[in-house]
Amino acid sequence: MASISMPRLSFSPLLRALTAVLLVSTLTSALVVPRVEQHTFSSVTPSSSSVSTTWTEEEQVDPTGRAFPRLKNDLILRAARGEETERVPVWVMRQAGRYLPEFRKVREEHEFFEIVRSPELATIVTLQPVDRYNNLLDAAIIFSDILVVPQALGLVVEMLPGKGPSFPNPLASPEDMKRLKKKVDVHRELQYVFDAITMTRHALEGRVPLIGFSGAPWTLMAYMVEGGGSKTFSKAKTWIFQHPKESHELLQIITDVSVDYLVAQVHAGAQMLQIFESWAGELGPNEFEKFSLPYLIQIARRVKAELGPEKAVPMAVFAKGAWFALHKLSDPSSGFDVVSLDWSHTPAGAKGVSRGRVTLQGNLDPTVLLRGEDAIVKETEKMVRGFFGGADGGKKYIANLGHGILPDVSVDAMEVFLKTVHRVGREVAAEGWNEAEGEGEGEAEL
Ligand code: CP3
Repeated sequence: MASISMPRLSFSPLLRALTAVLLVSTLTSALVVPRVEQHTFSSVTPSSSSVSTTWTEEEQVDPTGRAFPRLKNDLILRAARGEETERVPVWVMRQAGRYLPEFRKVREEHEFFEIVRSPELATIVTLQPVDRYNNLLDAAIIFSDILVVPQALGLVVEMLPGKGPSFPNPLASPEDMKRLKKKVDVHRELQYVFDAITMTRHALEGRVPLIGFSGAPWTLMAYMVEGGGSKTFSKAKTWIFQHPKESHELLQIITDVSVDYLVAQVHAGAQMLQIFESWAGELGPNEFEKFSLPYLIQIARRVKAELGPEKAVPMAVFAKGAWFALHKLSDPSSGFDVVSLDWSHTPAGAKGVSRGRVTLQGNLDPTVLLRGEDAIVKETEKMVRGFFGGADGGKKYIANLGHGILPDVSVDAMEVFLKTVHRVGREVAAEGWNEAEGEGEGEAEL
């Protein structure tokens, strides 16, 4: 495993630019973005029932040694560690995306990967939802894409308008693996992501934690072999059946880069990590066990081992469509603290399988946000009450959608969703944690 060396050279121009970014983002939010209702956080003191060691606030400095701003809202980190929260925390996958008019405005002037590669632009875009939904979002997620890792491995990836990602020269056969870089130095290939993370963490001024992420090996392999999205994944699945040995080699190459990449994200300032296995459901339970799960577990364990107990951050996994894997992903030995769910689970069913061993995250069907205010309030309330409550380990919960927010959702619908989580999430937390005192967890069965 590669040890991490922190390049210092690229930082002084960045830190100068940060001042400009802060100015721009303050101006943007003050002039353009309507502010929504102000909330105050009642407590940010870490609970005494801490279950895992964390990197203490005092020690959190950027790679140049400059202290990061003190965190004012650590709800999501406490929920991820299974600690008490005064309300249910919430963030949304793709919260910085095309449903936001201010994001579309930036996209009019800049290509997708241009934003991703510019720490200044990535910082501005990451902050957009946090500014607009002032105090309603409990985390920021760095603006980037899972496909920067295939790029770092040497493949060309384009983002075609209206079509999505496209690889002009995908891996047509195992022979093509020769085209991949043998050893990827993540600081050479992906330093722009780490710079964006450091810059964003400063620009957030401690308002909410910053989430880093990467794609899981099977999902990245599927893109690299298919050359883009697919309905059947016939090429990638043909690989795993006809070339299992080479498939495992490819998955291991991606795993090794991902471990270095995630560790460096934490050194750069990421306070939580999420692994996106977006195409997990394309594998049945048997293939998932062979071609996805071992690599997910390897990533979680190696990242935590490399960071050590002092610096390790909570890790979440989103294995879309893999309802059959919840039991195994909930096992503490998997290394994950949070399992993010798509909408194929009922709260009771998921809690019954997971049995309080991890924090659950999710899982509103993203199309509910297209169904009008009444439906959003009703379905969100049902979800929050369903996941949080009872003596069955349901108190470990982070609200989210079951996949990314859709581009045609209105900014007002998103606000209704967030406000409903806040209202209901306060009510259930007040009831739940008091009731729960002295109760055992993890008793429920399916
Ligand atoms: O706000 C955030 O969540 C952070 C940014 C983020 C993006 N992509 C920005 C993005 C994150 C976390 C991702 C992850 C990602 N990228 C995944 C895993 C999550 C998932 O959706 O399952 C996947 C599979 C990708 C690959 C990818 N990138 C696809 C399939 C597409 C096209 C689909 C689409 O929504 O258009 C992208 C493009 C992309 N990534 C956009 C954004 C905001 C939209 C592109 C644009 O602006 O033109």
